[in-house]
Amino acid sequence: MKPTEILSDEHRVIEQVLRCLEKIADEAQSKGTFPRDSAEKAVDFFRNFADRCHHGKEETHLFPAMEAKGFSRDQGSTGVMIAEHEQGRGYVRAMAENIARAAEGDAKALQAFVEDTQAYCALLGSHIEKEDHCLFAMADQVFTEDDQRKLLLAFQKVESEEMGAGVHEQYLTMANELADHYGVPRATLGRAGHVPGRCCH
Ligand SMILES: [Fe+2]
Ligand SMILES: [Fe+2]
Repeated sequence: MKPTEILSDEHRVIEQVLRCLEKIADEAQSKGTFPRDSAEKAVDFFRNFADRCHHGKEETHLFPAMEAKGFSRDQGSTGVMIAEHEQGRGYVRAMAENIARAAEGDAKALQAFVEDTQAYCALLGSHIEKEDHCLFAMADQVFTEDDQRKLLLAFQKVESEEMGAGVHEQYLTMANELADHYGVPRATLGRAGHVPGRCCH
């Protein structure tokens, strides 16, 4: 498996929880009661699985490896991707800040949570599409087998040393519990996310 295929598989799990987040926001708006437990789980997932682990692999390992092959951070896609990660962190922070007040019945906080989830889902959805269909295809073209092997090892270290043993798996379980609760199909993993010919390069 290539490093980009691991990241694309993680995208499928992130999309699964984005669908759950949309349903959490729908539930909050239509019923007027706030599903605090699910909202806290989703925010925890996006903070730790999507941002700390997945974006960590991209920002600390994949993007620098691409830049070492000549991709420009300042004028290229990696810089744009990092800026979008940062924008996403802002939305997740804002969602987290509004959970307690929304759960206590504050209509403004509930509406702000809903608007932040909508903006976050749109941002991350298009971000993932750019990486799957453009950036990762470009990365696959420039990496040697040795580069791929080093990146795979670095990704394993992020999971085992930075996240901690078993933590990655705990978040996969959480993603499936949320999906089952909201009737969202579980992601099908183990296949490449690339669609040949769709690269925007
Ligand atoms: Fe990314
Ligand atoms: Fe990504």
